[in-house]
Amino acid sequence: MIVAIDGPAASGKGTLGKRLAAHLRLAHLDTGLLYRAVAHRLLAAGGTLDDEAVAAEAARNLDIRTLDPEALRGPGMGEGASVIAALPAVRAALVELQRDFANQPGGAVLDGRDIGTVICPDAHVKVFVTASAEERARRRHGEFLGRGESVTYEEVLADIRARDARDTARATAPLRPAEDACLLDTTELDIEAAFRAALAIVEAAGQRLASRG
Ligand code: CDP
Ligand code: CDP
Repeated sequence: MIVAIDGPAASGKGTLGKRLAAHLRLAHLDTGLLYRAVAHRLLAAGGTLDDEAVAAEAARNLDIRTLDPEALRGPGMGEGASVIAALPAVRAALVELQRDFANQPGGAVLDGRDIGTVICPDAHVKVFVTASAEERARRRHGEFLGRGESVTYEEVLADIRARDARDTARATAPLRPAEDACLLDTTELDIEAAFRAALAIVEAAGQRLASRG
């Protein structure tokens, strides 16, 4: 079974992806880390984020076994990721790697922006997770404070709004729910309630699949 979870920043898709994968005993890929890693690599090498050929080369050279989530989730990293994620050659360079992951024996859960629309249009289950920008900023700000990062709630909210706008407006693989995605608004849901709601969506899809034989 392939489970596609898309949604904007800090909607909870990573947490849901991880918990669903553990529950269903499926592999899990947080595809945002791929874009974060490309941006990180370019900046660490002293480069900029606007050279499409150089960024695509960095994307082609990415090895998902070496992704370090801790180093990639700091303030500013999401912004850089969303800048290079708008470059079509970068996205093209990452398609096969994600599809290979999705098609591994046993199935997988992938979360991102374009999993249900572009990477896995035939996924068995598609969930589009949302929450208000203010609630998402509150969550992400809490994470940064927990890591000892000094950043204000207003800065986090501005970053989230800027990323939402860029990710939604870009021409290639914009952030939007697939037509056959189930929408899950977690503004009023804690992690446990969101997990139960997502699991119910997955189980209903599993039953539909089973009844089709
Ligand atoms: O966790 P959060 O939603 O804050 O960010 P992320 O999922 O790590 O994604 C960082 C950035 O990568 C996003 O703002 C998108 O621009 C980009 N991205 C994408 O374009 N497509 C994906 N499948 C995943 C991430
Ligand atoms: O992957 P994405 O950026 O969509 O979000 P996440 O990293 O899964 O969640 C962002 C933060 O919100 C984490 O600290 C989660 O624990 C928290 N969260 C929450 O408080 N309530 C939810 N319903 C989902 C996530």
